[in-house]
Amino acid sequence: MKAIVLSGGKGTRLRPLTYTGAKQLVPVANKPILWYGLEAIAAAGITEIGIIISPETGEEVKAKTGDGSQFGANITYILQEHPAGLAHAVKIAQPFLGDTPFVMYLGDNLVEGTLEPLVDQFKSNTLDALTLLREVENPTAFGVAEVDAQGRILRLVEKPKVPPSNLALVGVYLFSNAIHDAIAQIQPSARGELEITDAIQKLIDLERKVEAYQLRGWWLDTGKKDDLLEANRIILDTCLQCRIFGEIDAPSQVIGRVEIGKGTKIINSTIRGPVTIGDNCHIENCFIGPYSSIASDVTLIDADLEHSVILQGAQVLNIHQRIVDSVIGQRAFLKEAQKRPKALRFMIGDDCQIELSS
Ligand code: G1P
Repeated sequence: MKAIVLSGGKGTRLRPLTYTGAKQLVPVANKPILWYGLEAIAAAGITEIGIIISPETGEEVKAKTGDGSQFGANITYILQEHPAGLAHAVKIAQPFLGDTPFVMYLGDNLVEGTLEPLVDQFKSNTLDALTLLREVENPTAFGVAEVDAQGRILRLVEKPKVPPSNLALVGVYLFSNAIHDAIAQIQPSARGELEITDAIQKLIDLERKVEAYQLRGWWLDTGKKDDLLEANRIILDTCLQCRIFGEIDAPSQVIGRVEIGKGTKIINSTIRGPVTIGDNCHIENCFIGPYSSIASDVTLIDADLEHSVILQGAQVLNIHQRIVDSVIGQRAFLKEAQKRPKALRFMIGDDCQIELSS
């Protein structure tokens, strides 16, 4: 079996973070979202992985992710010139895939659990497609499945106005080579894309073997700020290990599950886990509360925050109110005057959101 991981798209819902970077590289608990999928694929014993990249962010994805050796896999990068749909991505990956069955993983999805049960079901039932389904509250935002009492898929619809169920298609699929013929027979949808949902529907119409696997664990589509914070909370809750490489001075207190990277200095501060802090950070006179992820090269002085994600190279200085539920972008700079400020000075990029709450 091989795998393709989709890492193109424009990431409009995560702007402004995605103006300067790929949405799949936005970190969750200090690790790019994309890497969780790559690790799950490699853990299932699949080592030939194609990553579909876009002209806009492809180089960044390549530079960060490399040749796959860190995952114990071989990565081939496949350029998709235009965001012409998920089925179009499979089409351009066909020379890489050949006739081999494969896993398709959407690089902005985070899914609980391993891929082994899916691979087992796919192989033992000699399927042409296995889709992952999960109950959601807002099915109109996804591909949706209508299933019979035995859980067999009767029909699939992409982003239906009137959903036939609350079972959404999760962004992980397994296919035999029959999917290539199905894709050759579909037309672009109303949004102008070749939809993988339509290709699977075509397999159903051709009476090929299509089954569903119902996911009970969590599934996070990290499209928006609150989803990103929620993904961060769940990963810190479930996966974080205590590892301290940095220096902590005597007045500081580190409580609970905390990870601190190399070269990081914690001075006169309290860190209450779960918290992850990257390499080469300077943290002084701070309180860092639960569910915070601080990337590398961050400076926090006289700051108090919790349930927040701070990206690489950001600086937060002298902010005396608690920062909560926040995402602060790479190299962002926040500083408050020593006394209560008479004026606020901003240089805020497009699509930023600032809330000065009382
Ligand atoms: C895509 C699929 C959709 C699926 C979703 C999962 O939607 O078209 O069927 O439910 O991924 O993340 P998109 O992210 O392209 O809107």
